[in-house]
Amino acid sequence: MTSDPSSENRAGYDRWAQLYDTYVNSTVATDELYFPSVYAEVRHLDVLEIGCGTGRHTVRLASQGNRVTALDLSPAMLDVARGKLAGAKNVTLVEADIMIGGDWGQFDTVLTALVLEHISDLRLFFAQVSQALKPGGRFYMSEIHPDRIAGGTQANFVAADGEQIRLTSFAHAEADIQAAASQAGLCLALQQDVIGDDHLVQLNPDWVRHIGRRMIRIWVFAHQ
Ligand SMILES: C[S@@+](CC[C@H](N)C(=O)[O-])C[C@H]1O[C@@H](n2cnc3c(N)ncnc32)[C@H](O)[C@@H]1O
Repeated sequence: MTSDPSSENRAGYDRWAQLYDTYVNSTVATDELYFPSVYAEVRHLDVLEIGCGTGRHTVRLASQGNRVTALDLSPAMLDVARGKLAGAKNVTLVEADIMIGGDWGQFDTVLTALVLEHISDLRLFFAQVSQALKPGGRFYMSEIHPDRIAGGTQANFVAADGEQIRLTSFAHAEADIQAAASQAGLCLALQQDVIGDDHLVQLNPDWVRHIGRRMIRIWVFAHQ
């Protein structure tokens, strides 16, 4: 393995891809319960999705009538997404590293779920988002709650051969996220902390331990 975070995460997510959609993961489950209602208003727009993975949100964005460009580092994650989106004419899947950039066009909305922890350079990341947004556009983002990140939570899974894999992650402080967004001309429009509740316990009784915990944070930024 190299020491480049993107190469490491490409390799890690390539191994996770076949398991990802059925993997028991309380963060993904929380995101699935609460993030879609925040972007329910995103309809019939040009959308860039960063780190689409297996297409969990891509499928929903496409069904809301959006034209979606969905990019991801991992060819294997994209293969799973491609399988779900076969025939969707309003979706373009792209293998790309957001930190390297590319000319993907200009979008009404940029959206990303559970990717920020893998980003080494917040200022570069938010600059890429800002560059991709049309004036007045919005950026929707979900991530493991900063409290849990500060406590050491990060993406990890047990591979099919039993190996425990920890993806390469960065514990960004709340203030650094805000500062990087603001420097890129992105103004906070909404911030929502999702607290673990009975919905999680209904999915998995073991998740009773998450009741009352700040599980994820959702942000919406407006491009100035
Ligand atoms: C935890 S998964 C989330 C996938 C999907 N957004 C979801 O919520 O189910 C993180 C995804 O981000 C992708 N990723 C990580 N760093 C990236 C980068 N620099 N550029 C593009 N994709 C990246 C990974 O390959 C992986 O598919």
